[in-house]
Amino acid sequence: MLPESNKVNTHKRSYNLNKNPYNDIRTNQINPIINLEETLPGKSTIHNLTNWANKLLLDSGIESSEDTIIKRFVNNVKRRLRRVPLQYITNHSEFMSLDFYVDERVLIPRPETEFLIDTVTKIALSSYNENEVFIVDIGVGSGNIAITLAKKIKNARIFAIDISPNAIEVAKFNAQRHNVMEKITFLCGDTFKPLKGLGLESKINFIVSNPPYISSDEFHFLQEEVKCFEPYTALVSGKDGLEAFKSIISDAKTWLKRNGFIVFEVADRQAQKVVQLIKDKRCFKNIDSIKDYQKIDRIVFAQMEDIRGQNCN
Ligand SMILES: C[S@@+](CC[C@H](N)C(=O)[O-])C[C@H]1O[C@@H](n2cnc3c(N)ncnc32)[C@H](O)[C@@H]1O
Repeated sequence: MLPESNKVNTHKRSYNLNKNPYNDIRTNQINPIINLEETLPGKSTIHNLTNWANKLLLDSGIESSEDTIIKRFVNNVKRRLRRVPLQYITNHSEFMSLDFYVDERVLIPRPETEFLIDTVTKIALSSYNENEVFIVDIGVGSGNIAITLAKKIKNARIFAIDISPNAIEVAKFNAQRHNVMEKITFLCGDTFKPLKGLGLESKINFIVSNPPYISSDEFHFLQEEVKCFEPYTALVSGKDGLEAFKSIISDAKTWLKRNGFIVFEVADRQAQKVVQLIKDKRCFKNIDSIKDYQKIDRIVFAQMEDIRGQNCN
């Protein structure tokens, strides 16, 4: 058994951090042995269980070419011991009580992203009585944000963009599963580029994004599960981790309606830098941040000025 200090508390969704200097959801230490033990009865260690399963396989005389539950179990244990995230092994990730298919083509949804959903739904349900609420999700990944918003906001009309065609495939699969295909248009490309030609300039109520936000230096400190298995393009954003924010903030004014919102998920200790980037643009008001379960400023939001000032650049 591992020392108490290494334990993951999945119920409180809090993780003890060790060794790692970055107190961030994408750098949390998740021990594969504890992760597996949660799924298994009794107190056996994984190595004992692997030996037990291998012996069972041998004793049962199952042909090596046969596909059996025991063989799949043993293979899954071995994959987990190689640090493949449990969600990629089971192809399931729960986000806001919805089940999402995930594999190595997409980032595994994180609980902190629920704050982004709450922020957008609260504003949308209280201030928009329009026929349609136009939302652009930059970096759709598994589709967790776009699909959950489509489920929660009745009159949502969503444009879900990702630079990765593989991610778009996974997101479409999840949208079909959750019966929201007719509310979401999936577009492959860089940031706002795929919106060009759709006539959506100054029509968007919300630009939402959980963009890549790890710096190229921080990448080396990520835990194995993240660094070796989650897509690099979903994690890293230039030398300072801010490239994606800069690019979205820079073009947001073209697409947002007056009084429309920009809502970002940000990394630990990044909120003030993102707030400053938004302030520097001089097109936004009501710039603020919201804390997550760990009291970290996790969401940054801002509202487009109702009258575009001369200084808006
Ligand atoms: C951190 S993941 C977020 C995925 C998902 N929205 C979530 O919350 O779990 C960032 C996503 O942005 C995509 N991405 C990275 N750079 C992009 C760009 N320039 N334009 C559009 N999407 C981009 C990545 O492929 C990845 O799917």
